Amino acid sequence: MITTDSYTYMPELVTPRLKLRRLTMRDAADIYRYSRDVEVARHVLWSAHQSIGDSRSYLRYMLRRYRNHEPASWGIEYVQTGEVIGTIGFMWIQSDNSAAEVGYSLSRDYWNRGLMTEALKAVIAHGFGSMNLNRIEAQHETGNPASGAVMRKCGMVHEGTLRQRLFNKGKYVDVELYAILRRDYRAKVHDR
Ligand SMILES: CC(C)(COP(=O)(O)OP(=O)(O)OC[C@H]1O[C@@H](n2cnc3c(N)ncnc32)[C@H](O)[C@@H]1OP(=O)(O)O)[C@@H](O)C(=O)NCCC(=O)NCCS
Repeated sequence: MITTDSYTYMPELVTPRLKLRRLTMRDAADIYRYSRDVEVARHVLWSAHQSIGDSRSYLRYMLRRYRNHEPASWGIEYVQTGEVIGTIGFMWIQSDNSAAEVGYSLSRDYWNRGLMTEALKAVIAHGFGSMNLNRIEAQHETGNPASGAVMRKCGMVHEGTLRQRLFNKGKYVDVELYAILRRDYRAKVHDR
């Protein structure tokens, strides 16, 4: 049986270059370093951090979510340096439908090295493994094609364009919806 705790249990997920782990208040300086970048914030629903206080508020919000067993994000630690270079996690989880949506962001210094693909693959494996999900969704603004590339490289399938789905940073934007089903994932794993 699936319990709320099995959904929000967030063990460390280790990949060749990354450690996905719970955030702590000690990560504020690392989070601020990349979250102040307007390019990182351009296609996400948060605004670029104006001060380290914004990063601390974000961390307090995340720690509250851990405490309350609500869907939350892992910090993405770059193992070689121990620095937190991004976050990835579940935006919502629906137990009735065994479905969840994943979201992520990464420091611009680390883009285009396959790192978010590595992180998302680990989160998908956790979602279909320990969490026993049936469907994992992700969405990106149409103007942010790199994020769609990450989703496709992780086996997610494009399901459609949601026209003017969001009002973000002063304008309505189209959104691309992707998902991967447990049966697609199983078939891929067995193919290997
Ligand atoms: C989107 C994001 C997570 C990608 O992370 P990443 O670690 O650079 O992703 P990867 O290196 O695993 O893959 C990026 C892919 O996008 C491709 N790409 C990069 N810029 C692109 C562009 N302008 N158009 C099309 N594809 C692009 C890369 O070529 C690569 O694909 P490939 O391996 O087939 O060549 C990262 O850019 C980011 O955090 N952006 C800011 C926050 C954000 O937008 N989050 C997602 C919200 S939905």
